[in-house]
Amino acid sequence: MTLPRIGVFDSGVGGLTVLKAMSEQLPAHYLYFGDTARLPYGTKSAETVARYAIGATRFLEAQNIDLLVIACNTATALAFPRIKDAAHVPVVGVVEPGAAMAAELSKSRAAIVIATEATVSSHAYRDALQRHGLTTHEKACPLFVPLVEEGWIEHPVTEQVARIYLAEALAQAPERADVLVLACTHYPLIAPLLRRIVPEHMQIVDSAESTARVVKKIIEKDVICHPERSEGASAAERSRRTPMDAKVSPAEHRTFRFYATDSTDKFKRLATRFLGRQVDHVEHVDLGG
Ligand code: DGL
Repeated sequence: MTLPRIGVFDSGVGGLTVLKAMSEQLPAHYLYFGDTARLPYGTKSAETVARYAIGATRFLEAQNIDLLVIACNTATALAFPRIKDAAHVPVVGVVEPGAAMAAELSKSRAAIVIATEATVSSHAYRDALQRHGLTTHEKACPLFVPLVEEGWIEHPVTEQVARIYLAEALAQAPERADVLVLACTHYPLIAPLLRRIVPEHMQIVDSAESTARVVKKIIEKDVICHPERSEGASAAERSRRTPMDAKVSPAEHRTFRFYATDSTDKFKRLATRFLGRQVDHVEHVDLGG
């Protein structure tokens, strides 16, 4: 049986939350690239992030992927059109799936988006939500990424920081806001903590989950059922695929390859937390520049 080859790109280990959500829903060969030597992206310019992301795209395309998922919110927010233009395979980012899910859930048509500085400054989520008819208040929460990487998931300091950020966001957002969008790869890990802080009526949208759903749909409908659209696969590979391939249990049929641009040991250590399973092998990649 031939499975789709899905490339997943992130600035580091955070995108493993997206990989986890996808691999729970979809059998595939997953090739995950974490640009750990150059993170964080959340404080960098659009120009720099686009250059890094396009380098990673080229690397993953060289591994013969059928589809590329930009798991990094910052890279999607700052450089999605440029990555898409540079890629030769279909590309899925995390912003539109997260916005679509928020729009589906919101009754009051008002949302709060929490993200990195760069994602907030780009207003990519605000614009995407506006296209769905929602008013948005965006709030940068730069301390969350280092706190999560430190493993302080259920920690009094993280809780205190979260209470301050969310109190500010809630004070500035329209009072009727009823959706909180977690617009950063790291935030799903503190979703239970955030749930305790935000008002009960507020729904939390995890863009990792929303993206996984979109990718599953594309693979089942576009790539698998219409193999000619999968530009990255060889003709022989495409002809072997059937719609049934997508219906196999994800747990039985999925493989993972991991690539990192910095220490593979550190990647392995953090990966276990983000992916919820042990990662034994990581290849080091040097993209230069
Ligand atoms: N992956 C980034 C994001 O989702 C967070 C980490 C970083 O700043 O590189 O925005």
